[in-house]
Amino acid sequence: MFSQFKQLQIIAFLFLFIPSEQWLLITQVPDITMSTKGLCHIDNGLSTRQILFCQRHLDIMPFIRFGTNLALEECKTQFKNRHWNCSLFYEQKQIENILDSGTKESAYIHAITAAGIAYAITKACSTGRLNSCGCDMSLQNKNDPTTKWSGCSDNVLFGSEIARKFLNLRERPMRNKQSLLNIHNNQAGIKTIQTEVDRQCKCHGVSGSCEFKTCWRSLKPFFHIGNQLKEKYDDAIEVRLHRSENKLRLMARNTPYERQTKLDLVYLNPSPNYCIKNITYGSFGTYGRSCNRSSRAIDSCELLCCNRGYQSHIVTYRDKCNCRFTFCCTITCQECIQTKEISRCL
Ligand SMILES: *[C@@H]1O[C@H](CO)[C@@H](O)[C@H](O)[C@H]1NC(C)=O
Ligand SMILES: *[C@@H]1O[C@H](CO)[C@@H](O)[C@H](O)[C@H]1NC(C)=O
Ligand SMILES: *[C@@H]1O[C@H](CO)[C@@H](O)[C@H](O)[C@H]1NC(C)=O
Repeated sequence: MFSQFKQLQIIAFLFLFIPSEQWLLITQVPDITMSTKGLCHIDNGLSTRQILFCQRHLDIMPFIRFGTNLALEECKTQFKNRHWNCSLFYEQKQIENILDSGTKESAYIHAITAAGIAYAITKACSTGRLNSCGCDMSLQNKNDPTTKWSGCSDNVLFGSEIARKFLNLRERPMRNKQSLLNIHNNQAGIKTIQTEVDRQCKCHGVSGSCEFKTCWRSLKPFFHIGNQLKEKYDDAIEVRLHRSENKLRLMARNTPYERQTKLDLVYLNPSPNYCIKNITYGSFGTYGRSCNRSSRAIDSCELLCCNRGYQSHIVTYRDKCNCRFTFCCTITCQECIQTKEISRCL
């Protein structure tokens, strides 16, 4: 009896100290260590299988790190005026709280980081910075009398495949329903980036006439993808788990009115109230956030402060002013005292 109790205690102890697997931590590794194996470490939030991947693909890892960073910065920009503003890095534990919470916010983070990684690797391929991939040449066989497909077309499929592989290595869909959700949302991010490809062309011909064109396919700037995914976040579909033929599947809760597709973001759990600080549920609250007193939109003080009220201050600061360009080639400025109003949520 006693030994059984002790065993239980040991198991509980081990459980508490299992390092959390949130690869988002790799964005915190300084650039200097990038060329070394230091990145492939459990301390950087990688799962055991991701560490093996990391060791085998040391050349790709810097771009996985870069893509994750790109995604998190975009997330912060997209959500800067919302109750949930995508701030994650206060403590490791809090990242985990959001990442595996099964909420819409978790869905967005999975989708945008998957897209970010696919994006970074695709661009690395097109610019010749990775040996294992190159441009997409399949278009160059196209017959078109006025358009010549040349130049480097972005090879989105290679980057997508790497992003999918790397991220899904963290998931255990047999054991964990959360994983099923995460895998779906990773895929939604990857599918979205695959639709955000543009044709870019250069004209040739007599004095700029566009007699001939050379064209290539190129990914749109990343904020387009951030925008697309934000729309999907706003329209995210609530799902439940459904077992059919001994297989777990995700099904829209509101059938038959809704049906999720591979492109939709899906969630299992309602979001916490992001007005109120509740770290266990990944919410920082909106206390102290700066808001816009004259706005009637989502950044207004009423909405952002959840009707708790706000405090406005006039702040004065020094700034450059009356700048003049003098020949040649300096700019001289005066220093002025400026004032502006800042409002913060109570
Ligand atoms: C945090 O949120 C959960 C779920 O909504 C709730 O049960 C809990 O009481 C909250 N904790 C605090 C400190 O507000
Ligand atoms: C996001 O919210 C947190 C918590 O309220 C705050 O500390 C942080 O400064 C905010 N970030 C931005 C970019 O507004
Ligand atoms: C505040 O909102 C007003 C009205 O929407 C807008 O004109 C102004 O640029 C905003 N100020 C800031 C600092 O965003």
